[in-house]
Amino acid sequence: MALKVGVVGMGGIGNTHAECYKKDPLAELVAVCDVVKEKADAAAERHGVKAYYSLKDMLANEELDIVDVSTGGYENGSWHFEPTMEALDAGKHVLCEKPLSNDINEAREMVRFAAEKKLYLGCNLNHYFTLTAERAKKYIDDGMVGELIYCLFKMGFHGGEETYSLNKSPRFNQPYAHMKAFLTHPFSVMRYFCGDIRDVQAFATKPGFRKNKGDLLLSINSIHVRFVNDAVGYLLSHRGDAVWGLGGWWSVEVAGSKGTFCIENCVEKLTYWPAPKPGKSLGIGEEQEPEVLNTGIKDFGATFPSRIHAFLEDVTNGVPHEHLRASGRDALATLEYIWAAIESYENDGAVVRPAPLPPIHGDPKVERI
Ligand SMILES: NC(=O)c1ccc[n+]([C@@H]2O[C@H](COP(=O)([O-])OP(=O)(O)OC[C@H]3O[C@@H](n4cnc5c(N)ncnc54)[C@H](O)[C@@H]3O)[C@@H](O)[C@H]2O)c1
Repeated sequence: MALKVGVVGMGGIGNTHAECYKKDPLAELVAVCDVVKEKADAAAERHGVKAYYSLKDMLANEELDIVDVSTGGYENGSWHFEPTMEALDAGKHVLCEKPLSNDINEAREMVRFAAEKKLYLGCNLNHYFTLTAERAKKYIDDGMVGELIYCLFKMGFHGGEETYSLNKSPRFNQPYAHMKAFLTHPFSVMRYFCGDIRDVQAFATKPGFRKNKGDLLLSINSIHVRFVNDAVGYLLSHRGDAVWGLGGWWSVEVAGSKGTFCIENCVEKLTYWPAPKPGKSLGIGEEQEPEVLNTGIKDFGATFPSRIHAFLEDVTNGVPHEHLRASGRDALATLEYIWAAIESYENDGAVVRPAPLPPIHGDPKVERI
């Protein structure tokens, strides 16, 4: 039976989520909610469902299985905690937009509370719900990458000084807004391919044209990491301070002892180069014939329906909580890395070990491994 869903926060993203639920056979969109009446009403009309102006009312009047939290707020995350906790307290599963929160203690509490209530808390870590990431993960699982050696990620927005304009909103003109709002995405992908991160070292800055306008945002983030498995990694992100070169706005290269892959433009292209075989060493300037997957997809919007479908599948199938894909705990991991990066920046690039994640206890009543 389709899962009944109510969406909270009817901005651009809430409406995108609502469209996904409407088109997904595993879901039935039953209501939308926004504290701004006009937004709730417009969304209700667009999606053909009932409007609510508070989550409390929606929970009191609708039989929901899932509450989708697509609110935003300061650093794109300060309005997530309250509705998420309220929905969990009412016994509903939650899919929350990223970042889980702009406050690490709130994010930890959300994950803790969901575990206590034995409810699913998922996060919209949509960037690896793609054909490119799926195939890349298969290269890893099939042993075609081998022992991980390095991970290089470049991600952000295209821009430059001629298109720059100061975002004066106090919700975003904050030093760490780009880190908190955005780095969840690249860190989630790095962790998906390479596992947990053990150490973080960060430098952050901004270009002169931002400084001249009094922009507070640390828009350029250069982050060096060491994974638990001893592979090394690097993440470069900026918020539209330059135009991205090779790989476009989103590219990741993961190299191992048996092969290397590179994803370009998130959804669009995956290239895999096998490591040379004995007797076939490559000279400088020579290249192994790569395998290329060109999906023909350029629109990153394609990630939303596939990520939301995965959440619906996991809830429908009642997967063990620790198997939930892109869980709240996974999202918390990315925030722990971001907080470590902030601490490193504040200590002039010192190496910082992210706080440990909450342990996974498992459930003896669930027989599957
Ligand atoms: N995963 C992605 O790829 C992706 C991309 C863009 C944005 N986002 C995230 O999506 C979220 C929403 O972004 P947006 O641009 O649509 O934001 P927005 O600010 O335009 O919309 C948020 C809406 O939530 C409403 N709201 C706030 N608190 C509420 C509450 N307690 N109850 C009911 N309504 C409430 C606001 O009135 C507003 O209409 C952000 O957290 C952002 O980080 C994710």
